[in-house]
Amino acid sequence: MSNTLRLGVIGVGAMGARHAEQIIAGAVPRCEVTAVCSQIPEQLARFPKQRQFARSEDLIRCGEVDAVLIATPHYSHTTIGADALHNGLHVLVEKPISVHKADAERLLAAHTDPRQVFAVMFNMRTEPLFLKIREMLSAGELGKLQRVSWIITHWFRPDAYYASAPWRGTWAGEGGGVLLNQCPHQLDLFQWFFGMPSRLRAFCHLGKYHRIQVEDEVTAYLEYDNGLTGVFIASTGEAPGANRLEIAGDNGRLVVENNTITFTRNETPTSQFSRATKELFPAVAATTTTVAIPSFTGQHMAIVRNFVDAILDGAPLIAPAAEGIRSVELGNAMLLSSLQGRTVGFPMDGAVFEKELQRLIATAGGA
Ligand SMILES: NC(=O)c1ccc[n+]([C@@H]2O[C@H](COP(=O)([O-])OP(=O)(O)OC[C@H]3O[C@@H](n4cnc5c(N)ncnc54)[C@H](O)[C@@H]3O)[C@@H](O)[C@H]2O)c1
Repeated sequence: MSNTLRLGVIGVGAMGARHAEQIIAGAVPRCEVTAVCSQIPEQLARFPKQRQFARSEDLIRCGEVDAVLIATPHYSHTTIGADALHNGLHVLVEKPISVHKADAERLLAAHTDPRQVFAVMFNMRTEPLFLKIREMLSAGELGKLQRVSWIITHWFRPDAYYASAPWRGTWAGEGGGVLLNQCPHQLDLFQWFFGMPSRLRAFCHLGKYHRIQVEDEVTAYLEYDNGLTGVFIASTGEAPGANRLEIAGDNGRLVVENNTITFTRNETPTSQFSRATKELFPAVAATTTTVAIPSFTGQHMAIVRNFVDAILDGAPLIAPAAEGIRSVELGNAMLLSSLQGRTVGFPMDGAVFEKELQRLIATAGGA
């Protein structure tokens, strides 16, 4: 391969076109968009200098791409991703890597050659705010973790959004709602910060605020082997929504809201203070520091640059696709728990969820 990566962008709808345009405008050194693919001719017409394909199979086999960026509807990530990997290409796939765990396993099984780079667009992993939280957790600043709560309800979407493409909001087309489309980023960060839970119980409301088949409101309770408990709340029907992450540990509490980290550090760890004090209703002395971290607008291109650096220079990936199965499993487990009215243990049985999804598709129809 020369020192310039030839990239094909498969899917140039809302997201793929933005990625392609930014790369063409020079946001990613040593990367050239040589081909684009869409089922919609008007979308292809926006890229007159690139080779244009209506079928991903033809782009993948055209001989003019070393890698593909897949930004198509969710189910096709598995089939197109596996096809590209089988044909020797490097792959960067949009989130989620697949709709469900069994499909994610099929896709990851197609990645047999370690020389092929396979990454996922978890752009929020490049956000300085989340990098800082991960650094603080890794350094053990909070002490033993006790409880986490993420309320992520600022994903408000109007009916027009769901009506904008026939695949949206359906089991057959999209495969899920807020857990599968908006929240893969937060589910990924949740596991990036805290690892996978041992079990969870969730309540999902299907089409509560929109005329859609899939979930638009979720409340989940998670338990971890190390004693940590968690709550994850998501909605696309609230305004104004909130994006508030709160982490409690033996050393204090971290609150993340409005791009600001507020850390209240106990002078003595809570457990130690609790054992030692003779007072009945004491306050634990603490100091509070606040750090505002400006949001970073270049997240997506940072992931593409890292993908190119991984291929051309062997740089370590920020978001390897193999890690993408975890957020898929978390979201699937929340839906499964709600649909079957039970606690779901990890690892979740992917075949059981796939069967449940097939049942939903058969009952609801459409896409
Ligand atoms: N990372 C992010 O911040 C972010 C934000 C929005 C969307 N996304 C993801 O991007 C992906 C695409 O979403 P979108 O909103 O751009 O969708 P969209 O409907 O606007 O565009 C989909 C594109 O895929 C093409 N397509 C559909 N089926 C195809 C097939 N079988 N073969 C080839 N091309 C096909 C369509 O022609 C279109 O160009 C989804 O995975 C979505 O979750 C990511």
